[in-house]
Amino acid sequence: MNNNENIASQAGQLRIGEKTVNRLGLGTNRITNTKESQDLLIKAVSLGVNFIDTANVYRNGESEDTIGQTLSPYPADLLIATKGGMNGGSPAQLRADLEGSLRRLKTDCIDLYQLHRIDPSVPLKHSLCALKELQEEGKIKHVGLSEVTVSQIEEAQSIVPVVSVQNEYNLVKRQYEDVLDYCSAQGIVFIPWFPLGGLRGDAETVSKKAAQVSEKYKASAQQIALAWLLARSPFILPIPGTLSIEHLISDLESGSVRLNKEDYEQLANI
Ligand SMILES: NC(=O)c1ccc[n+]([C@@H]2O[C@H](COP(=O)([O-])OP(=O)(O)OC[C@H]3O[C@@H](n4cnc5c(N)ncnc54)[C@H](OP(=O)(O)O)[C@@H]3O)[C@@H](O)[C@H]2O)c1
Repeated sequence: MNNNENIASQAGQLRIGEKTVNRLGLGTNRITNTKESQDLLIKAVSLGVNFIDTANVYRNGESEDTIGQTLSPYPADLLIATKGGMNGGSPAQLRADLEGSLRRLKTDCIDLYQLHRIDPSVPLKHSLCALKELQEEGKIKHVGLSEVTVSQIEEAQSIVPVVSVQNEYNLVKRQYEDVLDYCSAQGIVFIPWFPLGGLRGDAETVSKKAAQVSEKYKASAQQIALAWLLARSPFILPIPGTLSIEHLISDLESGSVRLNKEDYEQLANI
């Protein structure tokens, strides 16, 4: 592909509400208000990334702030997904979290607002009704959830439509197979966090596993790990996080890696 233009599209597309996004996005939990992070965001968008994941708590608001300062006013096809509720799920807390995100992201409506965690001290119904109210006020377009079980998704869906679920999932962390299968059957977008194993020791285990077939595909272990996720379900939208433009390009190139059935299955075995 010339000049790497639109390489993000090689992974295919998914629909989230009225927007169609490329099936490889960008995770931004480490970006800060530096020239390097701003350049990375601009480069990502120029490569066709049109799904960017952030949260109010990332770097204490600096991730959202950097996205707002660098990319707003947003191109019509760019979907910024953020999250709230990490510090409590009461209606007042969620409203305050959302108002902070709107301010930092320099927008009056969030395309995808994800409940970062369910607060065990607040009935889920109360948190979801608050998000529904904010949606009715036009401040949220679509609601997503994070770190949830199938029964929690079902309960949430009885209150407000759920368009996405973001749970930890990668080649070695597979505790949410049932949630992924449920989302795929329901047409809910599944956003695996730590798609490369994250910053913990899992990254090494993921790489080691993916490296079993990487030579054959002339790909890096990270590319194989992402290609496997893309092959696992058409509803998966990985959001690898990086601070490096070189890694960003490499991650997006994984959309062109097509694993054969045998290799896919070998990697699927835990
Ligand atoms: N919902 C939740 O509760 C939750 C929790 C955690 C994260 N998240 C979201 O998920 C996103 C992804 O998670 P994550 O960023 O923590 O973990 P990740 O994407 O699994 O891994 C990121 C790590 O991989 C490295 N990396 C990325 N591309 C690489 C490449 N091509 N080659 C070698 N190393 C590479 C990064 O370092 P370099 O900077 O050197 O590339 C970084 O150390 C986050 O940014 C955030 O948006 C959500």
